[in-house]
Amino acid sequence: MSNDERVAIVTGGSRGIGSAIVTRLAADGYAVVVGYAGRKDLAEDAVRAVEKTGGRAIAVQADVADEHAVAALFDAAEAAFGGVDVVAHAAGKASWSTVADLDLAVLDDVHRTNIRGAFVVAQQAARRLRPGGALVTFSTSVVGLAFPGYGAYTASKGAVEALTMILARELRGRDVTVNAVAPGPTATDLFLDGKDEETIARLAAQPPLERLGTPADIADVVAFLAGPSGHWVNGQVIRANGGII
Ligand SMILES: NC(=O)c1ccc[n+]([C@@H]2O[C@H](COP(=O)([O-])OP(=O)(O)OC[C@H]3O[C@@H](n4cnc5c(N)ncnc54)[C@H](OP(=O)(O)O)[C@@H]3O)[C@@H](O)[C@H]2O)c1
Repeated sequence: MSNDERVAIVTGGSRGIGSAIVTRLAADGYAVVVGYAGRKDLAEDAVRAVEKTGGRAIAVQADVADEHAVAALFDAAEAAFGGVDVVAHAAGKASWSTVADLDLAVLDDVHRTNIRGAFVVAQQAARRLRPGGALVTFSTSVVGLAFPGYGAYTASKGAVEALTMILARELRGRDVTVNAVAPGPTATDLFLDGKDEETIARLAAQPPLERLGTPADIADVVAFLAGPSGHWVNGQVIRANGGII
């Protein structure tokens, strides 16, 4: 199957890394479903940007932790474009607190979006991805880096990594790959919000490549995993972070 016949769902496609994935996969010839939570305006901007370049896209609202909404998201992809070949599950939420000070309501909220959401999206992907397809989930490099203050968020991404590894094995015989991308600090709202300039500069200086990641850096990795060139990579966590250890 050539790329110009393939269909991708991108959760979190309205902003940040997901939005860059929409742009990149559309440029690679995919018809793209832009999943979003609240920013309909930005999701529609993403659709218009794809259409401007001659591509096909639609925007669909779905809370990733709501199984009915996510089933409807996949239904919409199948109705509009005939099937689903790639799911890039970029939707996610972060919170920063030490364990000692953690508000457990925040923990529940982050884990609902990041863990339940990943399971809900993975469940639909497992049921519906066509042969040759790919699911790309999102972890964080902090699973390895263990930055203080990232406990609730990073624990949720540890769960995503476990889910990813196990689903890759469960899909034996389906010709569908399941991998996680684990970015390091990447210049999006999720990373930048609430951080002062000094903190941002300190984190940007950490990788040997001495800068923050860009959403496009991460979208390139997703495009590789999603496409035929990356299809022999399966059941892996790709730490895309400029070399932070
Ligand atoms: N940026 C980083 O430094 C970094 C590092 C490591 C890992 N990551 C991971 O990379 C992924 C993308 O992050 P980002 O930095 O691009 O984040 P972002 O700029 O904050 O964008 C988050 C996206 O997720 C969507 N979203 C949030 N909650 C949702 C929900 N319940 N249901 C559906 N969509 C929801 C948002 O939709 P609306 O805008 O429509 O509300 C938005 O499109 C996340 O999984 C994040 O954990 C990011």
